[in-house]
Amino acid sequence: MRLKTIDASSVTPAEMQGYLHYAIAPRPICFASTIDKNGEVNLSPFSFFNVFSINPPILVFSPTSRARDNTTKHTLENVLEVPECVINIVSYGMVQQTYLTSADYPRGVNEFYKAGFTELASETVRPPRVAESSVQLECVVNDVISLGKNGGAGNLVIAEVKRMHINEDILDADGKIDPHKIDLVARLGGDWYCRVTRDNLFKIAKPIDCSGAGIGIDAFPGEVKNSSILTGNNLGLLGLVNALPSDEDVEAFSKTDEMKVLLDADIDNHIRTMRLHLKAKDLLDNGRVMDAWKVLLM
Ligand SMILES: Cc1cc2nc3c(=O)[nH]c(=O)nc-3n(C[C@H](O)[C@H](O)[C@H](O)COP(=O)(O)O)c2cc1C
Repeated sequence: MRLKTIDASSVTPAEMQGYLHYAIAPRPICFASTIDKNGEVNLSPFSFFNVFSINPPILVFSPTSRARDNTTKHTLENVLEVPECVINIVSYGMVQQTYLTSADYPRGVNEFYKAGFTELASETVRPPRVAESSVQLECVVNDVISLGKNGGAGNLVIAEVKRMHINEDILDADGKIDPHKIDLVARLGGDWYCRVTRDNLFKIAKPIDCSGAGIGIDAFPGEVKNSSILTGNNLGLLGLVNALPSDEDVEAFSKTDEMKVLLDADIDNHIRTMRLHLKAKDLLDNGRVMDAWKVLLM
């Protein structure tokens, strides 16, 4: 791999933004509803956003100062005047309307109306919720931390969740949020977005025969660590086991029908190793981590 190296001091803020937006992605999108001291409502999307604490439950988003003229965004002015907000989660069905609210409307313009969203009164804070949003989080703003003085500088809005509302249609049978139903979108660099769909969701679950801290890749025999067949993801899975299988277990597995076919053939050592590694890879793809190890140790 050839690396392009960039010193922050050698690029313009616009260039840096390009690199950061594409590299730190996908970013979840929060739709922040705020009010000013006169009760005027504002609604704007932010992808410099995430959850940073569970207890207390803290969300952080960052309205930067406008890069072109270093002016302050209305959302920031509002939370400084009225330290409350509602964070509404954006799903695919709302993404174009959400984009509409990101336009630079004059202060006092209510983007709920501009974008055709419905205000829903909150229960613990004054800014309204977005009725169309499947998850609405009523928050008080504990702190606002400025990250700089120049155009494009971030301002961390530290928002503590007080009450959360979830559309029951996106819950599974256990009452948990179903990632297949919430239909999330996220922002990448430039004009790029992505949608979380069934075919791009996958799980990293610990296989049943792995518990506690794994042995790690540094403990592997060299032939396995340097395999030309096993991928980084394969090695990561193998590293999850707590201990390698015993010689007896390896021996017993080598006598099973599925292994006999492979081992009985009259082949040279190199081909044999390749076949074993391919077999291990296949077992790993089917979640059989311990059996994969037995094969690799034959
Ligand atoms: C999907 C999306 C994500 C955005 N994320 C941010 C962000 O994280 N920080 C920011 O300052 N502006 C962000 N923007 C731009 C603001 O939404 C835009 O500047 C908006 O006009 C600010 O509104 P306000 O001045 O009413 O607060 C984003 C725009 C879009 C469409």
